[in-house]
Amino acid sequence: PDTVAVSIEDVLHIAGHSLPALAQEYGTPLYIFDRATIVNACQRYFQTFERHYQASSVRILYASKAYLSPLLARLLSEQGMGLDVVSGGELTVAQRAGFPMERVSFHGNNKSAGELKLALQLGVGRIILDNWNEIERLTRIATELGVTPSVLLRVAPAVETDTHRYLQTGHASSKFGFPLHNGEARMAILRILGEGKLRLAGLHAHTGTMLRETRPYEESLQRLMALATEIYADTQWWPEEVCPGGGWAIDTPDQIDIPSLDLLARALQARMQEAMASVTQIALPTPTLVLEPGRSIIARAGVAVYSVGALKATPAGVNYLFVDGGMADNIRPALYDALYTALPVERVTTQGAVDYCVSGRYCESGDMLINNVRLPDMREGELLLLPLTGAYCLPMASNYNLVPRPAVILVDEQGVQVMERRETYDDILSRYQGL
Ligand code: LLP
Repeated sequence: PDTVAVSIEDVLHIAGHSLPALAQEYGTPLYIFDRATIVNACQRYFQTFERHYQASSVRILYASKAYLSPLLARLLSEQGMGLDVVSGGELTVAQRAGFPMERVSFHGNNKSAGELKLALQLGVGRIILDNWNEIERLTRIATELGVTPSVLLRVAPAVETDTHRYLQTGHASSKFGFPLHNGEARMAILRILGEGKLRLAGLHAHTGTMLRETRPYEESLQRLMALATEIYADTQWWPEEVCPGGGWAIDTPDQIDIPSLDLLARALQARMQEAMASVTQIALPTPTLVLEPGRSIIARAGVAVYSVGALKATPAGVNYLFVDGGMADNIRPALYDALYTALPVERVTTQGAVDYCVSGRYCESGDMLINNVRLPDMREGELLLLPLTGAYCLPMASNYNLVPRPAVILVDEQGVQVMERRETYDDILSRYQGL
C-alpha cells in the first residue's frame, strides 16, 4: 500500500516516521492513519467523477461507519466531502467536530425518535427513509418541530452482488429499503408527495460492499431512474439527486484486480445519459449523482501495528504467532473470512521462512487475524504490521475480555496527532456501578 515506505535503515516508515519509534511512544496495538493517503483518496474521487460530470452535479459523501473520529471529520470537511452517518453517535461526533450539517446524510434502517429529533434540530442535510414506520415517525417529529426535512427514499432495487452474504444489501429481501418490485417504493413516494410534510429530494440504493464490478451500480441507477420516470408521468415529481450508494472494493491479498474508479464514473455517466435520453420529451434537469464510499477512502490509509508476545508450534505443525491485539480490534477475519497480510516492521528485507498463523490474545479459537502468512522467523517483542486495516476494524472494536481499545494516530510529514488515546482500565470501569 501507498502508506508503507521502506527506509534505508530497513525499518518501516510512514510519512517519515519510524514505526518502531511510534510504537515505542504510543504503545501497541497501534492504529496509524496516513493523512496524505486519505487526502489522495478524496481527491481521486473528485477528480475522477468531475472528469465525467460537472463539479456541481456530483457529491461525494464519506460513509463514516468505516471509521470516524473528530480529527478525521475535520479533515474530510476540508476536503469538501459530505458525510453519511447512521446513528446519533456518528452524528454527534460530526457536529462536535464542526462538520457542516447541511453536508450530512442520516441513514439507517431503525432510527429512533430521539435520533431523528436530534438530526432535525442539528439541521442535517438529508434523512434517508428506510421503511413505513420511519416515514410516520419522521413526519410526526417534523410536524412537532415545525420543519420540512429533505429526505431520500431508500429503495431495495433487487440487485444481486457478488460479495460475502453479510455484505449484500440490495437484494429483493434485503433488510434495507422499500422493495421496488412489489410497488412499495412507488407507494412510499406517492404517500410522501401526497402528504407534503417531507420534501422528497431524491432516491437512494446501496447494494453491498467490496463490489468489484460496475454492474450493481449501473443496475441500481437504471432502476432508480426508471422509477423516477414512472413517478414523473403521474406526479411531475423529479429527483434532484440519485445515489447508488457506496461499496467500491479495495485490493486484498488474494485479489488485486479492482477496476479503476474511472470505469465506474464512465459507466454511471453512460447510464445517466441513457436515462435522461428516455425522458427528453420534457427538458428535465439531470439529477445530481451522489456517492457514498467508505472503505475505498479509508482502508488503505490505515495500518495496525502489533507486538509479538509469544510463539507456539503445535504437534500438527501450526506455527502460532500471538500478537497483543486480535478479534476485539479487528473482527473482520472472524466475521467475514476477510484476508489480511502482514509485514515484519524491523526486518523488511529478510526473505520469508516460516508459515505463521497470526492469532490474537483473546480467549477464542476464532481469534485469528491471518490463517497463513510467510514471514521471517519472528521473535518475542518484534513488531508486526497489518496493512489495509483502515476500514471497519476500529468501528467494530469491542472491549471483549475487558481489554482496552488501541491508540489511534494520524500522521503526516509535519507530525503526529492522537485521534484516540489508548483506552485505560479507568475508562472501562467508568461505566460500571458498584465500586
Ligand atoms: N452507503 C450505505 C448506505 C452503506 O450501508 C454502506 C456500508 C456504505 C455506503 C459504504 O460502503 P463501503 O464503501 O464502505 O463499502 N462491516 C463490513 C462493512 C459493512 C458496510 C455497511 N454499509 C465490513 O467490515 O466489511
